Amino acid sequence: MTTRINKRPWLDSALPVAARVRLLLSEMTIEEKIAQMVQISYSLIAGQEADEWASKGAGSFLHTLGDDVRRLQRIATESRLGIPVIFGIDAIHGHAIHNGATVFPSQLALAASWDPALAERVGTVTAREVAAEGLHWTFSPVLCLARDTRWGRVDETFGEDGYLAGKMGAGIIKGYQGDDPADKDRIVACAKHYIAYGESAGGRDSYDSSVTMRKVRDVFLPPFAEAVKAGCLTFMAGYESIDGVPVSANKTLLKDILRDELGFEGFTVTDWENVRSLMTRQHVVASMKEASRVAIGSGNDMIMTTPEFYAETLALLSDTGDGARELASLVDESVSRILSVKFRAGLFDEPSKVRTVPLALDPEAAERAKAIGCAEHGRVSLESARKSITLLKNETVDALPALPIRGPRGARGRRDECRQVSRIAVVGPVADSVKAQFGDWTFFTHPVPNPGAKPAFRVTTMLDGLRAAAETEGATVLHDKGCNLVDPSVESIARACRLAQKADIAFVCVGDSIDHNGECKDRADLSLTGRQNDLVRALGAVCAKRRIPLVAVLVNGKPLDFSVVAAHCDAIVETFNSGTFGGEALADIAFGHCEPEGRLPISFPRATGQVPVHYDQLPGWHGGKYADCAEGPLFAFGEGLSYSAFRYESVALSRDRARAGESVDVLVTLTNEGARDATETVQVYAHDRVASIVRPVLELKAFAKVRVKAGETVTAIIPLAVDSLSFVGADGRRALEAGEFDIRAGHDSRDASLLTAVLTVV
Ligand code: BGC
Repeated sequence: MTTRINKRPWLDSALPVAARVRLLLSEMTIEEKIAQMVQISYSLIAGQEADEWASKGAGSFLHTLGDDVRRLQRIATESRLGIPVIFGIDAIHGHAIHNGATVFPSQLALAASWDPALAERVGTVTAREVAAEGLHWTFSPVLCLARDTRWGRVDETFGEDGYLAGKMGAGIIKGYQGDDPADKDRIVACAKHYIAYGESAGGRDSYDSSVTMRKVRDVFLPPFAEAVKAGCLTFMAGYESIDGVPVSANKTLLKDILRDELGFEGFTVTDWENVRSLMTRQHVVASMKEASRVAIGSGNDMIMTTPEFYAETLALLSDTGDGARELASLVDESVSRILSVKFRAGLFDEPSKVRTVPLALDPEAAERAKAIGCAEHGRVSLESARKSITLLKNETVDALPALPIRGPRGARGRRDECRQVSRIAVVGPVADSVKAQFGDWTFFTHPVPNPGAKPAFRVTTMLDGLRAAAETEGATVLHDKGCNLVDPSVESIARACRLAQKADIAFVCVGDSIDHNGECKDRADLSLTGRQNDLVRALGAVCAKRRIPLVAVLVNGKPLDFSVVAAHCDAIVETFNSGTFGGEALADIAFGHCEPEGRLPISFPRATGQVPVHYDQLPGWHGGKYADCAEGPLFAFGEGLSYSAFRYESVALSRDRARAGESVDVLVTLTNEGARDATETVQVYAHDRVASIVRPVLELKAFAKVRVKAGETVTAIIPLAVDSLSFVGADGRRALEAGEFDIRAGHDSRDASLLTAVLTVV
């Protein structure tokens, strides 16, 4: 060890990271430095060519699995300075690109739990599975705000609200990185896509986000600021331009705001081909040499999938003169940041996170691989799915609420309150579809798309879950697909209706799949595809006539136009992309084994043309109506039912005057009027009565989940930081303006759900 350290003094873990970085940097040639800034995708460059990049010292590879990781790492660590590769992967909802790993609900689904501590546990499990593969870095979380639901990547976000996204994001970052990212079971997180990517023109991926810098700071920056506070070690620059300036060419964003104002100390990575696109797609430079110069000058540290950056930068630096000197010093800064993260992530230290031995010869790897997809991790996935599922409607049919149900042998709950069913029709194109249930970013879609892949593990689809629960309780499930997601000719709506004729309740599972959802799958029309609406209408008619409930189970990446579903179904259960155990979680809720507690992290439009419908709108004065569409969303941000009913009694403040830097307690009293213990998510919003610019009608400022026993009244005490009432004004600066604020608390963002107290900021 001592000889190693004598030869390579930066290996001395007793030294501070900054000193280790300086020691290593001083040994590096300019070629080695630029190579550290290069990130190669193994899905584009593999085999011999990839090996050459590893021996040249490429800083990072992405989308590499199994023994390829080990081979490339061996080559890198045997090169002149032995700098390890940092391997990145899109572990977006679990390490799901690895067929066999635990698949969690999508970020959007997880956000419906409103539970940052749960997000942390999801992050912890994901980190353990990614690290077991010898990888170090996930390109997660996505902190974009889903403002235009035509966008294909809404499923990847924590929804439309910056406060909720910030809390969930900080939770999952803590889970990935832990207290010490060098721990063998932890990985590096990446906050992406910085910034305003979720409001691109027309919801078209990677198009210009025509927002002002004031709005960037006011609306889109807060969740990223939370990520910095949570210690997130890397940030990814988005594809889009903002008001004409590509993010990867925007020094104000990447340097002035991110580093100087927010104090970010990690490194930035571009998104896929961002630097090449400066020339080939966004046309802000005429050559790759210029693109490379702009990229470095703007504050990009690692360059994803533009390997020509290496030769172009080398050529730039071989010039003499001030320009080249300045560039060389920026390269030093970028490389220092990359090395610093590698040191902090423990890549240079023992016990080693750098795996170089082939899997077959590495008993420790075999041992650690047991964590991938293990039962304990599965339980966290199941719990996440349960807590994400959101009950949006539950009407009374024949004197009982549509849900929950029980079979003839089911004993749970008070018998008189639970609908007993013997035959359950389960129909719909996504009732038995793993592909639809998983959504984007799994082994079906990345890195080499394989929609025909078979999961190497057991997945409970909606049908599986309902069938298993029904059997346990002595009921039978009758199944038919009813129709396909796209092809209108292969359908059996009439057959599905015949099943509903024989059943005591019908579940219709509708939504979308990876053909209509995910990156590069933006939609111009959010209506249900194929004959799904026809299926819902036909079943609705049968069920209404027979006075049996029709329950819609939504399996979808994001809000679609569910107006037909809302009109014809008695109950609606939103599951989004719920992961490995989605069907079991649905059954637990449908059979009343657990309470639904999800709340929507995003608003649902009544029609595609109504988008955007996010709740924090700036007010107009003509009511927001269209001549052909009712006002307001179909389902609002924060909405979600339980099997109990909550009555909000009052909202009060610990004091009614406060100043900057202080905190006020919001005291919300509510009663569980139902017959079951249940969890309520108390939401606290604010509205600025008079401000120097037009402010949103409401903004979420705090929330708390409270468990309330049946019949009990509780008072939730929720701290509100007065500074959170600040906003970015016309001068581009964040400030707190004195005056009166409506502090509104209640069940969801709908006006009628909220009680108000007034806070005066002095
Ligand atoms: C996506 C990123 C992702 C990257 C690497 C890009 O297309 O926008 O979110 O991390 O690919 O897979």
